[in-house]
Amino acid sequence: MTAPRPRLRPRGARDDGPSLTLRLLLSIGLVVLAGGVTLLVVALLVAPAVFHDHLRAAGVDLDPAGVDHVDDGFQVAVVTAIAAGLTAATAVAIGVALFVARRVNGPVTQAATAATRLADGDYATRVAAPGVGPELGDLARAINRLASRLEASEAQREALLTDLAHELRTPLSAVEATAEAIADGLLPADEETLGALRAQTHRLLALTRDLAALSRSDEHAFRVDRRPIDLADLARSVVTAHAARYAAAGVALTLDAPDPAPAYADAGRTGEVVDQLLDNALRHCRPGDTVTVAARPRPEADRGELVVTDSGAGFAPELADRLFERFYRAPGGPAAGSGVGLTIARALVTAQDGTLTAASAGPGQGARFTVRLPARP
Ligand SMILES: Nc1ncnc2c1ncn2[C@@H]1O[C@H](COP(=O)(O)OP(=O)(O)OP(=O)(O)O)[C@@H](O)[C@H]1O
Ligand SMILES: [Mg+2]
Repeated sequence: MTAPRPRLRPRGARDDGPSLTLRLLLSIGLVVLAGGVTLLVVALLVAPAVFHDHLRAAGVDLDPAGVDHVDDGFQVAVVTAIAAGLTAATAVAIGVALFVARRVNGPVTQAATAATRLADGDYATRVAAPGVGPELGDLARAINRLASRLEASEAQREALLTDLAHELRTPLSAVEATAEAIADGLLPADEETLGALRAQTHRLLALTRDLAALSRSDEHAFRVDRRPIDLADLARSVVTAHAARYAAAGVALTLDAPDPAPAYADAGRTGEVVDQLLDNALRHCRPGDTVTVAARPRPEADRGELVVTDSGAGFAPELADRLFERFYRAPGGPAAGSGVGLTIARALVTAQDGTLTAASAGPGQGARFTVRLPARP
C-alpha cells in the first residue's frame, strides 16, 4: 500500500557534467597557466632591457654578435627558470586541488548517500559533522533534522495504526460474536441483544468521528485563528451551553469568572477544549457532585487561565500525563469514550502556544484541568 518512493538520480549521471575534482583541477590549472604565461611574457619584454642597462653601467661593451649571444643565453635562463617554477607550482596546485576536493567531496557524498537512504525509507540514517566549515555543517544538520522528523512521524504512524487496530478489534469482535450467537440460535434476536449490538456499532461510529477529529487536529494543528478574547466571556458561554445537560444529570455547574481574563486565542477552538473538559467532568461525576469553570487573568506570567475543577472520580496522580495519550482511558472508569478527547484538546491548546495540564489528589478526590493561554500576541 506504500506509495512509490521518489528515487534520487544515480550519482555521477551523465548530464551532471565533469566531477568536482576535475573542475577544481581545471580551474587551479588555468590559474597556474595564466600566471606562468604572464610571468614569461613580462620577463621576456622587460628583463633584456634592464639586463642591457646593467651591462652598460658595468662598462661591458659588446659587439652586435656578442649582444645576440648574451640575449639568447639570458632567454634560455629565464625560460628554464620559469618552466621549473611552473612545474613545481603545477605539482603543488594538483596536490591542493586533490586535497580540497577530497575534503569537500567526502561530506557531499555522505549527504547524498544519506538523502538517498532516507528516500528509500531508512530513517535511522544520520550524517557525521563534516568539520569543514559552516556551509557543509548546515547541510549535515539539515539532513539530520529531516531524518529525525521522518523517523518520528513514521513511529507515530505505526503507533496510530497499532492503536487503531486494537481499538477496532474489541467492538468488532463483540458484534461478530453476537451475530454468530444469533445465527446459531444461542441468542434470541430480541430487543436486549439488538440493543447490545447497537451499543457496539454506536461505539464504532463514535470512534470514527473522534478519529476524523484527531486527524484534523494533527493536520491542521496550526490552523487556529487567534485574536484578543476574554476567557471570562468564553467560560460564561460554555457554562450556559452545558447547563441543561448538567441539570439533567443532577450535577451542579458553577462559573467563577469575576474579572476579565484576556487571552490571545481562538475562541471557537478554546470553546471546543472546554466542551471536552466539561464532557469528561460530567462523565466522571455522580449526582450531587460539583463542577466549576474558572477564568482568571495571570498577568505575572502574561497568560490567561481556564480551570475546570470537578468533585468526581479523580485519578491516580501519576496518570496525569497519560490521560492525554491517544486512546488512553484510565482503568476502572466509564467505558463510554474512545480516549482521544484529551489528545485533541491538548493538540488544540498547543497549537495556540498554550498548555493543558491535569491534576488530581487521587481516586475519588476530584480532578482539575488547567488551560493556560498567552495573554497577548
Ligand atoms: N474529569 C475527569 N476525572 C477523572 N478522569 C478523567 C477526567 N477526564 C478524563 N479522565 C480520564 O482520562 C481519560 C481520557 O480522557 P479523554 O477525554 O481523552 O477520553 P474519553 O473521555 O474516555 O473519550 P472521548 O474520546 O470520548 O473523549 C478518560 O478515559 C478518563 O479515564
Ligand atoms: Mg473525553
